Amino acid sequence: MSDTHSAATASSPRRALVTGSAGFIGSHLAHALLQTGTTVIGVDRRDPARDQTAAVNMAALHGLPGYMHITADLLTCAIDPLLIDADVIFHLAGIPGVRPSWGPQFSEYVNSNILATQRLMDAATRMHVPRLVVASSSSVYGPTSGGPSVEGDHPRPASPYAVTKLAEEQLCLAHASRADCPTSVIALRYFTVYGPRQRPDMFTHRALHAAMTGEPLRLYGDGHQRRDFTYIDDAVAATISAAGAPIDTGIVNVGGGANASLLDVINIANHLTGREIQIHGDNVRNGDVLTTRADPRRAQSVLGWQPKVDLPTGMRAQMHALTQPAYRRAA
Ligand code: NAD
Ligand code: UGA
Repeated sequence: MSDTHSAATASSPRRALVTGSAGFIGSHLAHALLQTGTTVIGVDRRDPARDQTAAVNMAALHGLPGYMHITADLLTCAIDPLLIDADVIFHLAGIPGVRPSWGPQFSEYVNSNILATQRLMDAATRMHVPRLVVASSSSVYGPTSGGPSVEGDHPRPASPYAVTKLAEEQLCLAHASRADCPTSVIALRYFTVYGPRQRPDMFTHRALHAAMTGEPLRLYGDGHQRRDFTYIDDAVAATISAAGAPIDTGIVNVGGGANASLLDVINIANHLTGREIQIHGDNVRNGDVLTTRADPRRAQSVLGWQPKVDLPTGMRAQMHALTQPAYRRAA
C-alpha cells in the first residue's frame, strides 16, 4: 500500500467532474481517477495558490495530464460548462465536521451542503449527466444501539451538520426520482475516513500529531466512542465503483470495518511513535454519537467492494505522510 492508488477498473469513467477537489477525499479521488485514465475537471472554492491546505492536498495533481482545476464556488459559479461531456459527477464539495455545525458557521453548511447541491443537480439535469455520486455521511444515522446501521434504517441525525447531509442526499435522490431527470444518483454514506492528508480537525490526525510532537490531545468523553474508521484508498475505490454500479439510484454505506474505539487509536499512535500521548480530558461534544458501524452487505453486492486496509496499517501510512516536508510547512 502507498499514497498512490490502485483503483483502476475497466469501468472507470471517461470524463468526470470532481467537486471539492482541493479537499481531503476529493484530491485523493481526482488523483486515483487520473491513474485510471479518466479526464478530470476539479472544482473547489479554495484556491491552492492562496490556501496552504489546498496546496498540500493538490500537490500530487499539479501538472498531471488530463487534469484541469477551476477555483469557484458552486453556490454562485456557472456549472453547466464544467459538465460538457461528463459521464459522472463526484460531489465531494461540502462543509464537513460535526462539532462546529452548532455555531454561527451553520449558514455555510446550508449554503454548501444544500443550496449548492440543488444548483448542481439542476445543472446535471440540464446537461444530461448520466450519474452523480454524492458524499453523504454515517452521521445521518444518529445514535444507534451499537449494532450495524443498514441503509434502510430510520435516520435520526443528531447535529446540524448531519441534518444538512441528510438533506443533501435526499435532495439528490428526489431530483433523480423525477421522470424528466436523466441523472441517476448513488449516495455514499462514508464512515469517518482517515489516512494521508486527513482534515486536521479529525481525531486520527490529532492523535498522531500529539504522539509525534508531545503536544497534548484533547479527548472529548472517555474515549470509548467507536468508529467504523475507513482508510482513504478504500473510500476512493468504493467511490469509483459507484460511478459504474449497476443500480439506478440508491444509498450505500462505505465503512472500513474497523469498529475501533478512540482509545484503540491512541494505543496505535503510541505504539507507532514509541511515545505516550498526554491526554487532556474534556466533555462529550453535542451531536457526537457513541458508535458508528456500517452494515457492509449492500456495498459488497452493489459496488462489489470491500475494505482492504486495517487501522494500524492505515495509521502507519498517515503517520508517514505527516513526516513529509510539505505537511510540516502547512502545519
Ligand atoms: P474537506 O473539507 O477536506 O473537502 C471539502 C472541500 O469542499 C473543501 O476543499 C472545500 O473548499 C470545498 N467546498 C466546500 N463548499 C464548497 C462550495 N460551495 N463550492 C466549491 N467548493 C466547496 O472535507 P472531506 O473530509 O474531504 O469531506 C468531503 C465530503 O465528504 C464532504 O461532503 C463531507 O461532508 C463528506 N464526508 C466526509 C467524511 C470524512 O470522514 N472525511 C465522512 C463522511 C462524509
Ligand atoms: C467524521 C467527519 O469529521 C465528518 O465530516 C463525517 O461526516 C463523519 O466522520 C462521518 O463518518 O460521517 P467524526 O466521526 O465526528 O466525524 O470524526 P472525528 O472528527 O474524527 O471525531 C471522532 C471522535 O473523536 C468524536 O467522538 C470526537 O468527539 C472525538 N474527538 C475529535 C476528540 O475527542 N478530540 C478531538 O480533538 C477531535
